[in-house]
Amino acid sequence: MCERKQPIGVFDSGIGGLTVLEQLIKKFPNENFIYVADQGSCPYGTKSPCEIAERVESITSFLLARNVKAVVIACNTASVHIERAKSLTSKPVIGMIEPTCERAVQLTENKKIAVLATAATIESRAYQKLLEKSGITPVPLACGEFVELLESGFCGLSVEDIVRNKLRQIENAGMDVLIYGCTHFSLLEPQVTKALGGVKCVACGQPAAELLEKVLNENRLENTVNSKGKVELYTTGSVIKAAETMKWFSCPHAPVRHIEIE
Ligand code: DGL
Repeated sequence: MCERKQPIGVFDSGIGGLTVLEQLIKKFPNENFIYVADQGSCPYGTKSPCEIAERVESITSFLLARNVKAVVIACNTASVHIERAKSLTSKPVIGMIEPTCERAVQLTENKKIAVLATAATIESRAYQKLLEKSGITPVPLACGEFVELLESGFCGLSVEDIVRNKLRQIENAGMDVLIYGCTHFSLLEPQVTKALGGVKCVACGQPAAELLEKVLNENRLENTVNSKGKVELYTTGSVIKAAETMKWFSCPHAPVRHIEIE
């Protein structure tokens, strides 16, 4: 098959990466996508760096075996280990941290940016280091509990309370921009903006889609057909649970299928 027609592989530990996939489909409606939700190993954010890097290797290898032309790591916690994925292939691999940071740096006026992320991402200091390089004061906050909340399909008033209580820790920190440094968290946009009115929030999806556009272009990998692309979704967890927690994802796709990835 012509390389340009091959699918783009996208993965996350769960449903969070679908917020990125949504933006990718919007930008590249004619591309084919294979999405893996590694729900059998979710959450990543409480795992050791070594365990996370191993999942990055396993899922990337699965996608490469499916002949993807590029890999998008639609998970910040996994993006910390992007080098592990890059070591497996010469095809383009895109992570979330750099494009999202870059967008946030463009937006801040007072040079103070909050980063909501999993414990593993915060402990890696990946965001903090990049922000500090640009002369920004980072305000990091580990909120891994939000991942489990969203993966369990939890919604409603109590979520608003949980988010508000958690964000109290940074409400007086003085940032004017906040990064959703976990792809799950942009699903909490209504609750976050309610708790921290006036702070501009940056999600990973759009900056990542723009970077992918640049990379596909540079590598002459854009699909030039005019028809709509196919979207395949896989979970390493339960298909029933996946279908339930992915209900909000409105892009047309094939029914979610189960796969085992060791
Ligand atoms: N969605 C993932 C991220 O962007 C992490 C969720 C998890 O802890 O598995 O970091």
